[in-house]
Amino acid sequence: MQLVHDVAHWRAYCEHERARGARIGLVATMGALHAGHATLFDAAKDHGDVVVATLFVNPRQFNDANDLSRYPTSRVEDRALASAHGVDLLVEPTLEEMWPDYPNATPTTVSVRGIGEHYEGDSRPGHFDGVTSVVAKLFAITGPCRAYFGEKDFQQLTVIRRMVADLCIPVTIIGAATLREPDGLAMSSRNRYLTPEQRGQALVIHRALQVAQRLAASGESSSEKLHAAMRATLAEEPSVRIDYAAVVNPDTLEDLDDVGRGGLLAIAAVVGGTRLIDNTLVAVPPQPGPAS
Ligand code: PAF
Repeated sequence: MQLVHDVAHWRAYCEHERARGARIGLVATMGALHAGHATLFDAAKDHGDVVVATLFVNPRQFNDANDLSRYPTSRVEDRALASAHGVDLLVEPTLEEMWPDYPNATPTTVSVRGIGEHYEGDSRPGHFDGVTSVVAKLFAITGPCRAYFGEKDFQQLTVIRRMVADLCIPVTIIGAATLREPDGLAMSSRNRYLTPEQRGQALVIHRALQVAQRLAASGESSSEKLHAAMRATLAEEPSVRIDYAAVVNPDTLEDLDDVGRGGLLAIAAVVGGTRLIDNTLVAVPPQPGPAS
């Protein structure tokens, strides 16, 4: 695995690989890698020839300075995991190269309106502008490739897909299923903030999604009922503060009154100071019509 820190070498590497016919898979990360990232590296390797991974804690997507300053870093372990999972080029760009104006604002911002403004966009003002601005830059440097993102950050995935479509960026976006711990907790770099007690409390998020998912699978299509089921389950852990529990259209992220044609259940909640998100798709089986 090669390790580079500058844009010129990163760009040259990708151009060279494409020129010899290699298909590039890109995995963008902020480090603190875990098994969920490893599945993205594996998928990129399985479907392409060369895996490029980026590791950059992007300050522009943090709307809270404390959240940024305590974001976990584990460079040595990250490099070992990337190398073990077939990453060919690991890019750890410097802040100066990525955002030369930082901490001042960069005049150019990529902003996806609408779908980037609900839920995560609402709770974390400016977050998605930071994500789309940095991801557009990663794509511009890497060039044509397939880029892999986890479905745990479903809204991020949707926003990035929309940006790529609207700006005709020559990158194919691939979503990968959320990887879970054996007890159901969605893997996240932020899980390492949780004490054992908080980790136990955090399981209520997945449980709430499952309860509502089972309700939908049994034929309940009313979003109100699914909301109520999620909230009642979340209430089993009074110390877990709900940010939102939503039933939305997975393509537009708009609220749905009913999930008869499918929907996405999404929860954001704070567990002992750590904000966690999770989601699941739901489908209501077709109901038998009146006998004729
Ligand atoms: O999902 C993440 O880790 C980040 O939002 C991303 C896509 C690497 C952009 O900084």
